[in-house]
Amino acid sequence: MKKILITGSAGFIGSNLTERVLKECPEASVIGIDNMNDYYDVSLKEYRLEKLLKYPNFEFIRGDISDKSLIFGIFEKYGFDVAVNLAAQAGVRHSIENPDVYISSNIVGFYNIVEACRNYPVEHLVYASSSSVYGGNKKVPFSTDDKVDTPVSLYAATKKSNELIAHAYSKLYNIPSTGLRFFTVYGPAGRPDMAYFGFTNKLVNGETIKIFNYGNCKRDFTYVDDIVEGIFRVMKNPPEKKKGEDGLPIPPYAVYNIGGGKPESLLDYVRTLSEELVRAGVLPQDYDFEAHRELVPMQAGDVSVTCADSTALERDFGFRPQISIREGLRNFAEWYKEYYMAEN
Ligand SMILES: NC(=O)c1ccc[n+]([C@@H]2O[C@H](COP(=O)([O-])OP(=O)(O)OC[C@H]3O[C@@H](n4cnc5c(N)ncnc54)[C@H](O)[C@@H]3O)[C@@H](O)[C@H]2O)c1
Repeated sequence: MKKILITGSAGFIGSNLTERVLKECPEASVIGIDNMNDYYDVSLKEYRLEKLLKYPNFEFIRGDISDKSLIFGIFEKYGFDVAVNLAAQAGVRHSIENPDVYISSNIVGFYNIVEACRNYPVEHLVYASSSSVYGGNKKVPFSTDDKVDTPVSLYAATKKSNELIAHAYSKLYNIPSTGLRFFTVYGPAGRPDMAYFGFTNKLVNGETIKIFNYGNCKRDFTYVDDIVEGIFRVMKNPPEKKKGEDGLPIPPYAVYNIGGGKPESLLDYVRTLSEELVRAGVLPQDYDFEAHRELVPMQAGDVSVTCADSTALERDFGFRPQISIREGLRNFAEWYKEYYMAEN
């Protein structure tokens, strides 16, 4: 891997992946692009980026993937071997209030990336899909063989569209592509719009947190290092280019789940979080968690359970997520203490 593009490199997963590549592949040059939008606290993106800018083999471009001429210019200039598209407008709930940005970043932006891969061929295009494509799938665990034609949010619809567009481009132009369906990713310097982070902010302020679906939602929480490990292994192994009996290329196309396959109830997850926040000194030793939680009904666009079948990932890449919720939330709590409360 020589020249690597990582979009969304100031984002949660993107910054962790970029650092991993920079550390492990000093011979590679990594070009990161991010529009640094203010969907959540931009200083968190700057903090992540600051760490990356210390590496001599990293270059950052502040820009938008929905800007076609910018993207084409970058592909032409660098000639990437691998492109990893993680830039997207994330968040299920935000897509209900702000649909436009999902179309420009997740649809137009993604289209620009695949078109650029067509015009300036890459060895492998890897892109973020999401467990949200499974919508209200009743069968668990969720398998990539399951039918996913009934998204329940615009966000999910954009991610499913990415997989469809990637398939068409793989077929038409023989572009090796792999889509990765991530399952609820958490960890240090994560996204403040996600439940564990928002809950922490509220608990610190002495507020009460609302736990949806009366705490009966189950999520396959996946620690960010496990996601990065999965992406890193996948990046180096594009789907093979083969020809069918008709002499035409079989699309070098793949989609995998990356999730631990051990769904946890939201209530248990948040209880572990509160214990780890106490342990890290973010919350006081005598913190009364039960007094600060309220069990409320489900919200529009939410699904009651997510659970990954990651056997294909394990079969093809010898890996499945390992890190326990206790360990992952401990790392988050310790990071939170250091980042927000260091002077205390
Ligand atoms: N975190 C999760 O639980 C999760 C789960 C499933 C899928 N995903 C997907 O993984 C990817 C990374 O997610 P994340 O959690 O790191 O989110 P994030 O919001 O932290 O990272 C995305 C980054 O992309 C940038 N960005 C957004 N639109 C852009 C645009 N048009 N041009 C350039 N940059 C743009 C943002 O500024 C941000 O830094 C996304 O595609 C997301 O949909 C995340």
